[in-house]
Amino acid sequence: MNEKNRPLDPEAKPDDRVDNALRPQKLNDLIGQDQVKENLNILVAAARKRNEALDHVLFYGPPGLGKTTLAHVLGNEMGVNVKVTAGPAIERAGDLAAILTNLRAGDVLFIDEVHRLGRAVEEVLYPAMEDFALDIVIGKGPSARSIRLKLPRFTVVGATTRLALVTAPLRARFGAVYRLDYYDLNAMQAIVTRAADMLKVPAETGGVEEIARRARGTPRVALRLLRRVRDFAQVRAEGKVTHKVAKEALDLLQVDPLGLDDVDRRVLKTIIEKYGGGPVGLNTIAASISEEQDTIMDVVEPYLLQLGFLDRTPQGRIATKPAYEHLGLEWNSEGQPRLL
Ligand SMILES: Nc1ncnc2c1ncn2[C@@H]1O[C@H](COP(=O)(O)OP(=O)(O)OP(=O)(O)O)[C@@H](O)[C@H]1O
Ligand SMILES: [Mg+2]
Repeated sequence: MNEKNRPLDPEAKPDDRVDNALRPQKLNDLIGQDQVKENLNILVAAARKRNEALDHVLFYGPPGLGKTTLAHVLGNEMGVNVKVTAGPAIERAGDLAAILTNLRAGDVLFIDEVHRLGRAVEEVLYPAMEDFALDIVIGKGPSARSIRLKLPRFTVVGATTRLALVTAPLRARFGAVYRLDYYDLNAMQAIVTRAADMLKVPAETGGVEEIARRARGTPRVALRLLRRVRDFAQVRAEGKVTHKVAKEALDLLQVDPLGLDDVDRRVLKTIIEKYGGGPVGLNTIAASISEEQDTIMDVVEPYLLQLGFLDRTPQGRIATKPAYEHLGLEWNSEGQPRLL
């Protein structure tokens, strides 16, 4: 299956326009992530009270859980502009300098994929974040001198799916670091209900629940599945998203009851059937199923770990007993799977 056509790929963003329309605008509109929300409420209230820019904030976690959304929500709460960029988009130090000198006091600079900033760019960012200063070197050779430009107080909101790849000095400059986790079923149901209302999709509780259950705790996936189920309902079932309709539509998309798709199942089956249950290295798994290692690491693995289907050991990945059971394979400590 083409990766970008995977119904469950939380990284594919073909429906950005719709997604943006559905984006919560304020902290109070946000569903779930209660602890992060509470912390942000305090952060925002305190900054407002002191009439200061927000401290720099870093969000990390799997794709599609709301990092970008939160950056915009923070901008809205503070009533400031949000300037959006991304690590790979800032190629030279000069590009960053141009962005920084265009910021106004209090503005939010959202840097997506902050782990992909280049070294030289990062070095400009450090004093900018810490001292709100930009060091510019004028001239060359012995006559070169450096002047320091003052910047307005602004806020960097960083986002990454790979906290481990954010360099230590950069990480240290964020005053607040929050991890976004998969949403629980209640939150997922509320998110699907809200989206169905906004998109005017007639949906019964059973249908909402089925979509919420199979969306791997990820709002972006839930919104995509809702749209696919809506299509199915319109073509095959007079438009109404009932439990039966949702189930049939999702089965047809090969999204199983726990929210695993074809790629997830292939990863597990490879570990079990080709490598006796593991341990096996990620690169070997990726090569065996012709998927990118990054996709497996960012998208597949975190969810399988969360379900308890995978164990990560220094020797490699191991499929657990529940994974065998989910795939209908018999688990034995010798490895070799047999069909139940
Ligand atoms: N708490 C939430 N409540 C309702 N909808 C949400 C929530 N969080 C995210 N969404 C919806 O999910 C979609 C994906 O969220 P977002 O783009 O913020 O994810 P992300 O973490 O930035 O993903 P990526 O790592 O791929 O950039 C958005 O369109 C938004 O409408
Ligand atoms: Mg994002």
